[in-house]
Amino acid sequence: MESAPGIKAVSLADKKIILGVSGGIAAYKAAELCRLLIKAGADVRVVMTAAAQQFVTPLTFQALSGKPVLTSLWDAASGDGMEHIHLSRDADLLLVAPASADFLAKLAHGRADDLLSTLCLARACTLAVAPAMNREMWAAAPTRRNLEQLQLDGVSVLGPAAGEQACGETGLGRMLEPGEILAALPGVLNAGPLAGKRVLITAGPTFEPIDPVRGLTNLSSGKMGYAVARAAAEAGAEVCLVSGPTCLDTPAGVRRIGVQSAADMRRAVLAELPSDVFIAVAAVADYRVNAAAPQKIKKSTDGMTLHLVANPDILAEVAALPDAPFCVGFAAETERLAEHAEAKRRKKRLPLLVGNLAQDTLGEDTAELVLFDDRGQHRLPRADKLTQARHLIRHLVNQLN
Ligand code: CTP
Repeated sequence: MESAPGIKAVSLADKKIILGVSGGIAAYKAAELCRLLIKAGADVRVVMTAAAQQFVTPLTFQALSGKPVLTSLWDAASGDGMEHIHLSRDADLLLVAPASADFLAKLAHGRADDLLSTLCLARACTLAVAPAMNREMWAAAPTRRNLEQLQLDGVSVLGPAAGEQACGETGLGRMLEPGEILAALPGVLNAGPLAGKRVLITAGPTFEPIDPVRGLTNLSSGKMGYAVARAAAEAGAEVCLVSGPTCLDTPAGVRRIGVQSAADMRRAVLAELPSDVFIAVAAVADYRVNAAAPQKIKKSTDGMTLHLVANPDILAEVAALPDAPFCVGFAAETERLAEHAEAKRRKKRLPLLVGNLAQDTLGEDTAELVLFDDRGQHRLPRADKLTQARHLIRHLVNQLN
């Protein structure tokens, strides 16, 4: 067995990035982000709001970026006074990290009362924000509305993450770690190895109704499929995620179509073709109730028999199309993994199949995977699902190439 080979890392070299820092305790993490961007070869100009300067001094960013930090619209010393136009005209990316609740509100309303918000409004480049705020602020209705508006305006939203917050509370609202933001940038810039490719992914369980209030489902959490969607988006693909019921947030830059049953999932998948790649991660129910009852079934002491019929196999159907995308299957087995997985791969004629032991993976945050392709088996030792998903995408890119 060999491990998944790597692909050429996507370079941020030559990319002109404006790093906007707004006010929040996560501003200190922006210093590390600035360092990582420079290390990756980007040409970085830092712009700070007045509030950001209460947390970190401009000198820190000046030392890291090797350039003066811009802080004011009214700096007479800065050229012709049109810095807001020149800077955002030349840039490839305007990245606001951290983006406070207040700054997101400003952006959503198109306000331009300081240099950073003016740059955002006057930009001709991609805008990405990495929100950071207290969990109550993140969950507040105005922030939800502002986020929705920003996404409609085409702004890439990176994170936030869940975890312990500076205020002592725990929840969603922490800025993504600098390394995570860096990993997402090739996707945001459409510069990753899957740039220009459409990737269609299924995830989660399906729910097969028995009557209006009951149904058959399984223990799939959707975590692996969502991680694969995120990794594909990071690699620059245009990603559509057809998902059964889960409680997971849609990854940044991913279009999600929510479905319930296997039949719904099949319809949604076929409607999204053609695609360059199809990755079937969903735990699709193999059977459905022949005729779901239109009204709630009343209990009886006689017991009950459900008549089940086979569901269509979505992956097999897509893989058999004359213009089939590059198809990747998943196989969750409880025993004899290699034997069952390889049999499934050959039966469905898949160039790549990901095998795992169901009892080790279901609902967990980590997974141990084995990739099966024409060259043999490639073991991915246990790691968190996002790391595994990134390995899988690298492997897939190598095969595509
Ligand atoms: N799959 C699908 N549609 C189905 C069933 C499975 O698209 N109706 C996909 C899954 O998303 C996964 C792969 O096929 O990628 C799993 O293959 P399959 O042989 O169907 O696995 P199981 O359903 O687990 O088979 P078995 O129950 O026989 O182990």
